[in-house]
Amino acid sequence: MNPTTPTMLDTAFKKDVFEGLSSFPKYLYSKYIYDAQGDKLFQDIMALPEYYLTNCEFEILDTHKGEIASLFRGSGNGFDLIELGAGDGQKTKVLLRYFAENQFSFVYKPIDISQNAIDDLTASLAQELPSVQVDPEKGMYFEVLNRIKQYNERKKVLMVLGSNIGNLLHPKAIEFLSKLKDAMNPGDLLFMGFDQKKDPQTILDAYNDPTGVTADFNKNLLHRINKELDGNFDTDAFKHWEVYDPETGTAKSYLVATQAMQVRIEALDLTIDFDPWETIHTEISQKYDDKVVAWLANESGLEIETFFSDAKGYYKNYVFRRKEHE
Ligand code: AVI
Repeated sequence: MNPTTPTMLDTAFKKDVFEGLSSFPKYLYSKYIYDAQGDKLFQDIMALPEYYLTNCEFEILDTHKGEIASLFRGSGNGFDLIELGAGDGQKTKVLLRYFAENQFSFVYKPIDISQNAIDDLTASLAQELPSVQVDPEKGMYFEVLNRIKQYNERKKVLMVLGSNIGNLLHPKAIEFLSKLKDAMNPGDLLFMGFDQKKDPQTILDAYNDPTGVTADFNKNLLHRINKELDGNFDTDAFKHWEVYDPETGTAKSYLVATQAMQVRIEALDLTIDFDPWETIHTEISQKYDDKVVAWLANESGLEIETFFSDAKGYYKNYVFRRKEHE
């Protein structure tokens, strides 16, 4: 037993790390990968040839921007485009450029948990697309959703790119989609990326690159615990391991202890024992098909209006509306 007192668990990070590493089997939540170093490693992942998701979504936005634009614009007097997890906005700029060139009346509201990301994106938009009206906000998805509800004066388009929903188990994904639905009025749209089931090898390769960037990204959880919670993980003693189950469409990331170890986390007054080859489950990256997306939508009070796919069918961006009478 560890003598950790509840007062030591005074942040969600501490509480989650304590619970995850005291459980059997051990786990950590992937959302904690994203500090400044984690953000940078994710940028590097997006540039990897194996990580097809980014290029597929670029291709979809570029190929179908005209159709996407007319869906977003509808027949009304302009719209608010609210992007959750905007990051560096590289993909979104494909759409923004098209909207600007065609004199659409819209406001772009990028929301991101990272103030750095928001500042960089706002600065780059002022340079590259000065005519676009930008109203940025820092915040977590769930936190800002309540405020988003207040955008009621004209049509809203909510946008979540990058298959970020895939990092949530289905019940959490339904909770997230339901919250988005609650923030939507009948004419509003939700535009969201979902990575698709495909050759299992292609998926495994995307999460297991030979240069080791994905391994570093995964291990950033341990680095962050060392840095912020005064831990002493020997990160070299852990191995990044990826599995993909083609039946459920779930890719899972693990950190596997290559030897027996004891790890101390001072800020939690916690000592953790690892058996050789014991695992820490760190992330899921869910892959979808139309049936599963339709089920998730239905469970959340949404319906699919249409979708756009890349030429290989690797990735899809779905357009959802609120179901009537929900
Ligand atoms: C952010 N998210 C959608 C990425 C994914 O594909 O699950 C995170 C990632 N993990 C490993 N590589 C990329």
